Amino acid sequence: MACIQWGVDFYTGLPDVDQQHNKLVALANRLCEAAKHDPELLSQAFEALKDYVVEHFSLEERLMDEAGIDSDHIRYHKHAHALFVAKVAELWEGRNDDEGDTLNEMLAFLTTWILQHILHTDREMASAIHTTLGTEAPHNMFTHY
Ligand SMILES: [Fe+2]
Repeated sequence: MACIQWGVDFYTGLPDVDQQHNKLVALANRLCEAAKHDPELLSQAFEALKDYVVEHFSLEERLMDEAGIDSDHIRYHKHAHALFVAKVAELWEGRNDDEGDTLNEMLAFLTTWILQHILHTDREMASAIHTTLGTEAPHNMFTHY
């Protein structure tokens, strides 16, 4: 089973963001699979995810800036992105220190973070962008906010 199970709750109603989230989740799952079955592909899978994260975060940050949503949210959101990039790099560098423990810690952190971040911070961002731009999110997905 995949580390992160894609579901309708992931949708933000921002097509470019949704498309990139889908790829991000696929890359995270590829990394999880490599960790379980194919250690030789691990570095490759990690590099692909790490690079894509940077590209994806810059898209979200540009969309937030362009829409001009609440500056507190933008500041918090950009900070969360920066902390994630730094933490993943730190865990990756330390992965050989104590056999598989650090790798498992990294995978657990990475998958939990991506899941929570998309479901909460990114959807909150999307809700604010839709409100600011007067666009519609499909499926009334933000009724609980
Ligand atoms: Fe984000």
